[in-house]
Amino acid sequence: MSQNSARTLLKDVFGYEDFREKQSEIIARLFSGENILTVMPTGAGKSLCFQIPALMGDGLTIVISPLISLMQNQVEALKLLGVEAATINSTNSPEVNRGIWQKMQAGTLKLLYLSPEKLMTERMLDVVRGLNVNFFAIDEAHCISQWGAAFRPEYEGLSRLHKIFPHVPIIALTATADQATREQICEKIFSDNVKTYLTGFDRPNISLNVEIKNGWKQQLMRFLKNRQNENGIIYCLSRKKTEEAANMLVEKGYNALVYHAGMSGQRREENLNRFMTEPDLIMVATIAFGMGIDKPDIRFVFHTDLPASPEAYYQEIGRAGRDGQPAVAHMLYGMDDIRMRRMFIDDEAAGDDHKRRGHQRLNALLAYAEAPECRRYSLLHYFGDEPDFERCGNCDLCDNPKETLDATETGQKFISAIYRTGQYFGVGHIVDILTGKVTVRIEQLGHDDLPTFGIGKDLGINEWKSVARQLMARGFVISDMTHGSLKISDKGFKLLKGEADFRYRPDVILKKARMAKTSKAKKAIPDLPEEAQGLFQALKRYRKEIAAERHVPAYIIFSDKSLVDMAINQPVTLDQFGDIYGVGAGKKEEFGEKFIQFICENKENLS
Ligand SMILES: Nc1ncnc2c1ncn2[C@@H]1O[C@H](COP(=O)(O)OP(=O)(O)OP(=O)(O)O)[C@@H](O)[C@H]1O
Ligand SMILES: [Mg+2]
Ligand SMILES: [Zn+2]
Repeated sequence: MSQNSARTLLKDVFGYEDFREKQSEIIARLFSGENILTVMPTGAGKSLCFQIPALMGDGLTIVISPLISLMQNQVEALKLLGVEAATINSTNSPEVNRGIWQKMQAGTLKLLYLSPEKLMTERMLDVVRGLNVNFFAIDEAHCISQWGAAFRPEYEGLSRLHKIFPHVPIIALTATADQATREQICEKIFSDNVKTYLTGFDRPNISLNVEIKNGWKQQLMRFLKNRQNENGIIYCLSRKKTEEAANMLVEKGYNALVYHAGMSGQRREENLNRFMTEPDLIMVATIAFGMGIDKPDIRFVFHTDLPASPEAYYQEIGRAGRDGQPAVAHMLYGMDDIRMRRMFIDDEAAGDDHKRRGHQRLNALLAYAEAPECRRYSLLHYFGDEPDFERCGNCDLCDNPKETLDATETGQKFISAIYRTGQYFGVGHIVDILTGKVTVRIEQLGHDDLPTFGIGKDLGINEWKSVARQLMARGFVISDMTHGSLKISDKGFKLLKGEADFRYRPDVILKKARMAKTSKAKKAIPDLPEEAQGLFQALKRYRKEIAAERHVPAYIIFSDKSLVDMAINQPVTLDQFGDIYGVGAGKKEEFGEKFIQFICENKENLS
């Protein structure tokens, strides 16, 4: 084939003038029969890497994709371009499927989209054996790795594909794959016989912002001010919260829809269709929404809660700004998120290795959240890019630098403890050494004899952990995802030798230390900003007093949820009190004055 024909197709079918980075080389290689793994950022244009060679060949190309909605989207888009594409899935009517079978047999169908489980049925494999197949394209290939958050057991079956069809090339594509995931893709899909194309991960038009959670509703509304005329996605951790957020937005006049796995398939599809077709819509969703969404003009992605990992975060914000125009990613995180995420990981029915990796990914995301300088630098560094800048100029930390302190010596202490112990140990152990904690392990290894033992008693454990994350965020220290051990980068050695400086952000450290205290002492309520915890606890005691006076159970007075609402909204008038969750006319009359007075007296000294 000639590059011309690829270029002609690009222009004639897709209407684009030039290939983007690596596209044309990948297309040429794939067409000449090589196996290829393509790792490119979200929105980079991976689809064309298989769609164009599919049109160049004279056989059928089979595309494997994890979601029906995703397949339908791509097929619809291709059909509009005049390409013979189809998907066979459970939602098709028998007639539709029959039509597709006929086109396949007649050799007129160019692209067939299938779910992995559909392709790997004996019946389908039999049919495919009888066809002239150009190649297989496995989209969202990271779904095959158990190490990522997006693991899909159905993808496992695809590891048989290259054995069943040894002469048919395969292209696998993904936007997020750290080293470990990449290796697993290569091994499972290709038995390591593959050429990998890796472009940088940067999405420079997406501005990166992170804020400590402090009343998410207010923070969200503040963010949405003047964004009535934009498309956006708001991610929430729970289904309930998506409903709550969407209701709030609709009340305030925004055009908002909900999407989560608890909705009926029909309603989900309806909302997805509206989102894809209507302008100025906000989708409030759980992570069930997003993979492969290719609406070009999504202007923002707002996370009301901490995602599971940098990979998940990157995928989710990657939906924004695919037209290359400026877009914003804004994330909130708080101590409760971290606790919740840790709990999720520990509760997973998975081996220790898997859990350890989960915790490490979470730590990496925290490192990003706590980054002392330039967020983009820390995100790209995590994905293995070597950023050619120290500051990107398009993140909150570049725009409004946080106060940082020179902590070169602190950093040196930390790195020298890693160095002295052979770069074999994780954060916990290094911090134990620095703070002079005599654990069984430390005694056994003789690490209490090290010169670094106990030299970091000036900082607490939480502070040291944050220092560790900030060192990671700035690329001085690298966490080995497989074993959990900390490694020193070239930059880290420079720091050790005094040829580089390290600055840390005390605000995250202080905050954490304080939060850790309150959270240990009392059972914290998720979604309740740290500032409101004190008032909430006081309200509970007050409720108990009143309940005791009246000889009734406390919940009869007010539910916890009502108290949470009071702690957050701190009503000062009877009208406002009437808006509190669970307060009707009767309770307003009975308790309004009392509680308002109590709140006024207590809010200052408790927040
Ligand atoms: N060479 C090109 N010139 C102009 N636009 C392009 C080019 N290649 C791709 N695009 C457009 O870029 C957008 C994103 O492409 P695509 O959906 O393939 O992204 P992707 O890499 O698969 O991302 P994701 O990982 O998020 O699925 C599409 O609208 C596509 O038409
Ligand atoms: Mg894609
Ligand atoms: Zn920056």
